[in-house]
Amino acid sequence: MSNNWLFPLSTEHEMIRQTAREFARKEIAPIANEFDESGEFPLKTIRKMGEMGFMGIEVPEEYGGAGMDTLAYVLALEEVSKADAAHGTIMSVNNSLFCYGILRYGTDTQKEKFVRPVASGQAIGAYSLTEPMSGSDAGTMRSRAERHGDVYILNGRKSWVTSGPVADYVVVFCMTEPEKKHHGVTAFIVDANTPGFIRGKKEPKLGVRASATSELVFENCEVPLENRLGQEGEGFKIAMAVLDAGRIGIAAQSLGIAEAAYEASLQFAAEREAFGHKIGEFQGISFKLADMKTRIEAARLLTYNAAIAKEHSKNTGERFTLEASMAKLFASETAMFVTHAAVQIHGGMGYSRELPIERYFRDAKITEIYEGTSEIQRMVIARLESGLR
Ligand code: CAA
Repeated sequence: MSNNWLFPLSTEHEMIRQTAREFARKEIAPIANEFDESGEFPLKTIRKMGEMGFMGIEVPEEYGGAGMDTLAYVLALEEVSKADAAHGTIMSVNNSLFCYGILRYGTDTQKEKFVRPVASGQAIGAYSLTEPMSGSDAGTMRSRAERHGDVYILNGRKSWVTSGPVADYVVVFCMTEPEKKHHGVTAFIVDANTPGFIRGKKEPKLGVRASATSELVFENCEVPLENRLGQEGEGFKIAMAVLDAGRIGIAAQSLGIAEAAYEASLQFAAEREAFGHKIGEFQGISFKLADMKTRIEAARLLTYNAAIAKEHSKNTGERFTLEASMAKLFASETAMFVTHAAVQIHGGMGYSRELPIERYFRDAKITEIYEGTSEIQRMVIARLESGLR
């Protein structure tokens, strides 16, 4: 156990953490392996999480959310991800990539129409930026949106869309003026029932298997003008600013995965015997555990710090890009380090599907890839620090 001197939690924060912990232990942990195995989307649990307020933690109550702050969101997401990272992915996308963007850039009508159902878990939200030929280099997207009077016609192919196979509403980024490069990108909120909205191939994945991921294809998909998010040409900045929030979510998810793997390892090391000793008495194991714990606590400080920076930005308008990228980078690499060590400590049992350790290891890997790879986070941090951006 350790005390957190930098971030003493308020009663409200302790309460959300406790509520999320109990819910995750009771409702998510027991089904995590089964859903990982089948790859089925856990809709029933997601609906319950919506009723608990977890799908729109920072959304004001007037739009159906819990009306809490970013630290509350991080604490709840950490607990959910500790039980199952796939539930964490779905929760993170709903909260930060969908609701946050519309709350920040949307009109009152858009908030009422799209944020309310997603924040309450009655509908699923998604965010679609990546394309088959543009991942890290997001500004080179090829999907087009052409304005015809009061509608835009969308054409293109998007890939790696979290919740793509089940989403009711998707924030989609398209080129409206390709010659202007990233200044020619515009954001839209697309209803999945719109003709020309086609769900493509579902991705078979290594980890977070219960969170459905797919391509989305737009074929002459007609989106009304009132569904444009922000102004024409503002899309790339919106995409980046929303990812800043998303990256804090992924840091919290990474923290949850790492904690689960660490706690299991600590317990295993205290019980398992070899050569007449508990294995935790051997320096080879105890030093590993010490490194795991230390990195987790460092990741926690960066993640909570990013949450507070984002909260602060609500008053000042200052960007929290640096804090979010550092938290995402360090926490995701910590999740990878810790889960790798956890498999090693558990030996054969770490490799067996009878325990969740191998699942933690598989789930951790995506945190170093989605919402900006570790290499992209390093690029963002380096550019900001050198004054290049
Ligand atoms: N907030 C606001 N504006 C920002 C910004 C931010 N965080 N980051 C950049 N911008 C602005 C810049 O100020 C600049 O504006 P001006 O041109 O007006 O000066 C503009 O955006 C372009 O910035 P850059 O020159 O830095 O752009 P770049 O082309 O070099 O790319 C990048 C920057 C950081 C590499 C960016 O492309 C990036 O983050 N790439 C990774 C994309 C990513 O994370 N994809 C994951 C998608 S989601 C997903 O994983 C699936 C899912 O469903 C969860």
